[in-house]
Amino acid sequence: MLRRPRRNRKSEAVRNLIEETSLSVNDLIFPMFLVEGQGKKIEVDSMPGIYRFSIDTMLSEIEACMKLGVMSFDVFPAYPENLKDAMASESYNPETFYLKGLREIKKNFPELCLMSDVAMDPYSSDGHDGIVKDGKILNDETLEVLSRMSLAQADAGVDIIGPSDMMDGRVGFIREALDEHGFTDTSIMSYTAKYASAFYGPFRDALDSAPKFGDKKTYQMNPANVQEALIEADLDMEEGADFLMVKPALAYLDIIKLLHDNYPLPIAAYNVSGEYSMLKASAQKGWLENDRAMVEMLTSIKRSGAKIILTYFAKEFAILKS
Ligand code: PBG
Repeated sequence: MLRRPRRNRKSEAVRNLIEETSLSVNDLIFPMFLVEGQGKKIEVDSMPGIYRFSIDTMLSEIEACMKLGVMSFDVFPAYPENLKDAMASESYNPETFYLKGLREIKKNFPELCLMSDVAMDPYSSDGHDGIVKDGKILNDETLEVLSRMSLAQADAGVDIIGPSDMMDGRVGFIREALDEHGFTDTSIMSYTAKYASAFYGPFRDALDSAPKFGDKKTYQMNPANVQEALIEADLDMEEGADFLMVKPALAYLDIIKLLHDNYPLPIAAYNVSGEYSMLKASAQKGWLENDRAMVEMLTSIKRSGAKIILTYFAKEFAILKS
């Protein structure tokens, strides 16, 4: 045998020399859940190790994460039912707790990268990402709400706006609104290829944001499809997105690779709640080794072409590496 591939695996030093994909805390964005109030740290039942924080406890948690090297955070608010309405008006009410929270985070830690989600569902009494009329989701009317929400978040100091709603034309609409109001430095990470996935279940528990009727299939993509991802990516490029995101990650590694190979923008992937919970549940049963499986999952996402990974494992990974 002239060729013996095992020679390149003979010691850890050699294996490290030829290692092609290296994962760093710099690649990670930590999604966190914010609730109103003080002194709160409530574990999400379906996401062991993940909490809903009030702003005070969230600031301490962010500080702890920053000491471990995590510098990017995505904040999702959980709103009580009585504050939700058909137009998601809390999403842009300047007095609302989540906008005050974002402002406070940025004031305390100006050096971190703060991201926030743009979609109506956490604030909507219908639990949908757009305005609902006669059981239908209205696209163009929703854009107006999304742009107000984006402006309110940009004004609170957010570095990256993440439209996760999948309405047509929203990236361009939001980009123009931001620019008109002087927020030319606020970036957009578009949820470019967001699939109608079963893996968002635990997130909807965390925010109590499940749709009140129907599903999200008229705006989120069919898990069976590839071609549409190219159309969405073309549009996001034209409309001024700074990053393209694929979501979920693990069941969509082919889509990550496709966008990576075809677009010059940095690709992000969202390692979603269900992917987190799946590993946590089997690790709790002793069926999978948590740390090795976590690193393998995250590495596979990066290897497929995602430079950036939004993951609930961010802090855990940072602890493992410290
Ligand atoms: C809101 C939104 C969702 C997620 C991120 N932003 C849920 C949904 O679209 O129903 C899911 C994130 C996760 O599962 O971790 N539009």
